[in-house]
Amino acid sequence: MAGDGRRGTFITFEGGEGSGKSTVAERAAARLREQGHDVLLTREPEGTELGRHLWAFFRDLAATGKTMTAEAELFLFAAARAEHVRTVVAPALEAGRVVLCDRFADSTTAYQGYGRGVDLSTVEAANVAACDGLSPDLTLVLDVPVEEGLRRARALEANEAKRPDSIGSETLAFHDRVREGFLAIARAHPERVTVVDASGSLDGVEAAVSGAIERLLADRK
Ligand code: TMP
Repeated sequence: MAGDGRRGTFITFEGGEGSGKSTVAERAAARLREQGHDVLLTREPEGTELGRHLWAFFRDLAATGKTMTAEAELFLFAAARAEHVRTVVAPALEAGRVVLCDRFADSTTAYQGYGRGVDLSTVEAANVAACDGLSPDLTLVLDVPVEEGLRRARALEANEAKRPDSIGSETLAFHDRVREGFLAIARAHPERVTVVDASGSLDGVEAAVSGAIERLLADRK
C-alpha cells in the first residue's frame, strides 16, 4: 500500500484447509533465499508469542468442546494480527526484506466473514485496525475443491497427531463459504490477488507461485 513508508515486499499465501499453502510458502522462501533475497517466512495467527498463545487457546477450547461467538473469534485473530504487523511484519519490510506470510487479513474475511457470517463491514473495520495501513503487494490464493482439501488436511492431522481446532472441524457448507469468500476477494482485488489451482501436483503449484512472485519482483525493480 502506498504511503506506508516501507521498502520491502509483502507476499501473502491464502487458501482453505489442505490447500498446501504452508508447504508452497516454505518452498517459495527456500527458492527466494537461493536467489539471494533476504526472506522472512512467517504465519498467522502464530507469528508472535501472543499469537501462539491465542492459537493454543483456540485449540484448548475446541478440545473441551467449548465454543466462542464469531465476533470474539474475529477480534482474537485481529489481536494476533495487530501484534504481528507491528512487531514482525512492518519492521522486516522497513528493513527491505521479502516477507512471506502464511495467512493474513483475507483469512479473516473468508473465515469469520464469509464462513461464520460476521458482517463484512465489521470484519473490514477489524482488519483495517489490525493491519495499520499494511496491504500485501501480492496475495496467492491456493484454491482446491473443499472435499479434496479436507481429505488432505485430515491425512496430515493423522500423520502429525495434530489436535483438531474448531475451524478445521467445521461442516462442508462452512468450508464451501470460505472457498467462495477467497474467490470473491480475488474478484474484488485483481490487482493484488492471483488464484492458483492447487488441486494438481505440488510441483505444478510451486511453478505457478514462483512465476507470480518473479513477475512481482521484476516489476518492483
Ligand atoms: P492453518 O493455517 O494451519 O490452516 O490454520 C489456521 C486456521 O485458523 C485455519 O483453520 C484458518 C483459521 N484462521 C481464521 O479463521 N481466521 C484468521 O484470520 C486466520 C489467520 C486463521
